Amino acid sequence: MTATATTTSVSLGVRDVHLAFGANRVLRGADLDVAFGATACVIGPSGSGKSTLLRTINRLIEPDSGDVLLDGRSVLRDDPDALRQRIGMVFQQFNLFPHMSVLRNITLALRKLKKLSEDEAVQLARAQLDLVGLAAKADSRPAHLSGGQQQRVAIARALALQPQIMLFDEATSALDPELVKGVLALMADLSAGGMTMVVVTHEMGFARSVADTVAFMDHGVVLEAGEPAAIFEAPEHPRLRRFLSQVL
Ligand SMILES: Nc1ncnc2c1ncn2[C@@H]1O[C@H](COP(=O)(O)OP(=O)(O)OP(=O)(O)O)[C@@H](O)[C@H]1O
Ligand SMILES: [Mg+2]
Repeated sequence: MTATATTTSVSLGVRDVHLAFGANRVLRGADLDVAFGATACVIGPSGSGKSTLLRTINRLIEPDSGDVLLDGRSVLRDDPDALRQRIGMVFQQFNLFPHMSVLRNITLALRKLKKLSEDEAVQLARAQLDLVGLAAKADSRPAHLSGGQQQRVAIARALALQPQIMLFDEATSALDPELVKGVLALMADLSAGGMTMVVVTHEMGFARSVADTVAFMDHGVVLEAGEPAAIFEAPEHPRLRRFLSQVL
């Protein structure tokens, strides 16, 4: 069984996106294509603009120029709240509300964004927790869960909104090594289930085995993108070769 019951995935296109923070030109014409139901892993050195790229996709930051397309349609004029229901995002820090139960962390967004009744929200949240293997933790506080379990709750929370695409920003970087595997397995499961995903990761094994496309970012552009075998076995750009020699 996969972690999504249904899939309404979309394709994603990032087109020549530029973004500067003051004089710091962080994105300098970034391009990315993710086919319907495909998984793209974004790799690259610290500060190359990976997180910023993800944040422009769901419009936590507005690009200075360029375009972001879901299903071929620009999202830049959409209502950001409506857009964030279509795009789920999971961060390195899980961003769960510590004073609320696991269940309430999930129902809150469903009630606010999807305007579900309490009963509907609880039913959906429990079903989603079950799919990530945490049905028994519904009434616990996040602090009483392991890091891996908390991250699975954060993923369940995003999935409960039935997004068309999922963005992961180093979702396993804050986890103890023995907890990484469970979260990566859940992400691989989602990928296999046909969710369109963009995964910023330092887990090269995951990128190699799960990604349909690997995109290497450096200085605000995607320098090279291709199938994992091409990127890892036959990298063309010297900068990518140097990066891989440091991380593999
Ligand atoms: N809100 C912000 N305000 C100003 N500068 C920012 C902001 N967010 C990011 N930056 C700058 O943008 C650049 C790219 O940052 P970003 O977080 O996208 O890199 P990254 O590739 O995700 O790096 P890492 O692998 O370390 O997470 C950095 O120079 C960073 O200082
Ligand atoms: Mg980052």
